[in-house]
Amino acid sequence: MRLSVEDATKEIYANHKVILKTNSGKFRAGDVLRIQSDNNVCGATVHTVENGDEKILIDKYLCDNLGIKLGDVADVEKINPKYADIVEITVPEEFLMEGVEKNAINIIKNRLSGKPVYKGNKEAIVIKKEVRLIQINETVPPGIVISVNSTKFRSVAAKRVSKAEGLPQGDIEVPLIPTPKTSFSDIGGLENVKQELRENIVDGIKNPELSGIYDILSKTILLHGPPGTGKTLLAEAVATESGAKLILTGTETYSKWLGESEERIRSKFSKAIENVPCILFFDEIDAIAHVRDGRITDTVVTQIIKAMDYVKNTDGIFIIAATNRIDRIDPAIRRRFDSTIEVPLPNKKTRDTIFDVHLRNKPIEKDVTTKKLASLTGDCSGSDIETICKKAIRKAMHEKGNVNMAHFEEAIKEHTHTTREPASVMYG
Ligand SMILES: Nc1ncnc2c1ncn2[C@@H]1O[C@H](COP(=O)(O)OP(=O)(O)OP(=O)(O)O)[C@@H](O)[C@H]1O
Ligand SMILES: [Mg+2]
Repeated sequence: MRLSVEDATKEIYANHKVILKTNSGKFRAGDVLRIQSDNNVCGATVHTVENGDEKILIDKYLCDNLGIKLGDVADVEKINPKYADIVEITVPEEFLMEGVEKNAINIIKNRLSGKPVYKGNKEAIVIKKEVRLIQINETVPPGIVISVNSTKFRSVAAKRVSKAEGLPQGDIEVPLIPTPKTSFSDIGGLENVKQELRENIVDGIKNPELSGIYDILSKTILLHGPPGTGKTLLAEAVATESGAKLILTGTETYSKWLGESEERIRSKFSKAIENVPCILFFDEIDAIAHVRDGRITDTVVTQIIKAMDYVKNTDGIFIIAATNRIDRIDPAIRRRFDSTIEVPLPNKKTRDTIFDVHLRNKPIEKDVTTKKLASLTGDCSGSDIETICKKAIRKAMHEKGNVNMAHFEEAIKEHTHTTREPASVMYG
């Protein structure tokens, strides 16, 4: 039966916008119909039958699915659809950003219960007064099927949805950091920190089949400790060791965020979703996630919280954040990290290994031992050690010889004099 699309706003169904009306006497309220336009097919139910008038309400999303507008025609036919065993959907990114993915599936299932669904169509679902578009990717069995209580819903990577038409996107360009060269073996000491990062993030990325147990792994890790202790280095090494992409957010980004925070953060996450597995690294997170003191940081903090909730429910995205001012971080953000790990100043043994790392393959005289160097550099961070090694090597180069202990002693003296304060004093 060929029916034309009429304006429903003139009737009581104001929010439906369009209506298919017939007085065929063939349909009853609740009948399931197959509506076919020139472009597409979808399912709908007969809404009411009043005084012989059969009204099939269709909303504008259904019209979009069919590619029809007011005045167009569509063929309508009563069908006897099967119940759906499985419905696979993609859920809009921003819906997930609210940290309700697990609930989301249930909410969507409830809203679609009793309704006919068809592969490829988008369904509008009102949540918190906002319309969200859910895409039906696949159904078992195929064809127009009715979603019922026993139907299993599964969602696919939000990645596909982020490309879906009509969804707002963060479209600020976000660069991926080229895979860093740093590996765990370039980091002296910090064995327990490396182990935590390896067990949780590296193994999580390398074994995606473990995704079912991500719930018990830490997907968001906060590293804190004095400056120059290797926090940034650790995040880079995790990316290298896991082969995951690294998206960096640091102070330079934060300043821009103050103007366009939502957009920035959304863009980071869109990029992360497109590049799973991916590590989002928030360097010096205290610069942006500090205790709320005004409207602007407030929005940013809220966004970061949303983002973190989102990550928890999305496979393949991990967050590492670093700070040397943990006390300044908003408590709500702090609480959201699955684990918080301290990256301390190196002890003597660790300083020894850090010297070892920085003097690998360098032309060193026999009198130089890393053990001796470690005992001369109490209070020094890994970054201090790097600087000392560079200075000593430069001195040797000037003299066109190998690096000897005298070069180191001078370098240590110079460095500890030029550094305003040792890292241990600045921390906290
Ligand atoms: N454990 C370490 N092993 C080897 N090198 C280290 C270690 N810790 C720091 N370094 C050296 O110090 C440099 C700076 O370290 P990094 O940037 O990772 O410190 P950070 O903890 O992020 O400091 P900040 O808090 O100032 O950002 C590194 O590039 C590296 O050369
Ligand atoms: Mg750093």
